[in-house]
Amino acid sequence: MNEKSEAKRFEPRILAFTCNWSSYTSADQAGISRIGYPPNVQIIRVMCGGQVDPLYVVDAFLNGADGVLIAGCHPNYCRYNGGNRHAETRAKFLKMLMEEIGIETERLRIEWISGLEGRKFLEVTQKMVEELKQMGPLLVENDGRDSV
Ligand code: FES
Repeated sequence: MNEKSEAKRFEPRILAFTCNWSSYTSADQAGISRIGYPPNVQIIRVMCGGQVDPLYVVDAFLNGADGVLIAGCHPNYCRYNGGNRHAETRAKFLKMLMEEIGIETERLRIEWISGLEGRKFLEVTQKMVEELKQMGPLLVENDGRDSV
């Protein structure tokens, strides 16, 4: 099998940290309204986007994720004193690190998606899948030490 056909068959794995009060519900809403979202996405519910420790993202990349999505409440709608803004700051920091070590920064994405935006959840995740297919798999070495 040549490289082109392998790239076509590549199905990226995306880990999505979704805020309980917004984007988790949007993913649920996408499912209930039968628009769905790509099967490439594995969801982890968190109580706030600000709860996503940068090490969770690193751990995801070290353990097989090709992309990570952090999806939280829209600005000024976070229930935990601007946790979404903290998440945004951490994501910027992580992207700087990713760039430094040669990992495409587009593999990490942060989005504000309310509980009523099931279609937006679908569109964001579809776009991620397409972009990651273009990039190909993330090849990082896990040295076998314990995960976070
Ligand atoms: Fe949703 Fe903070 S409560 S991002």
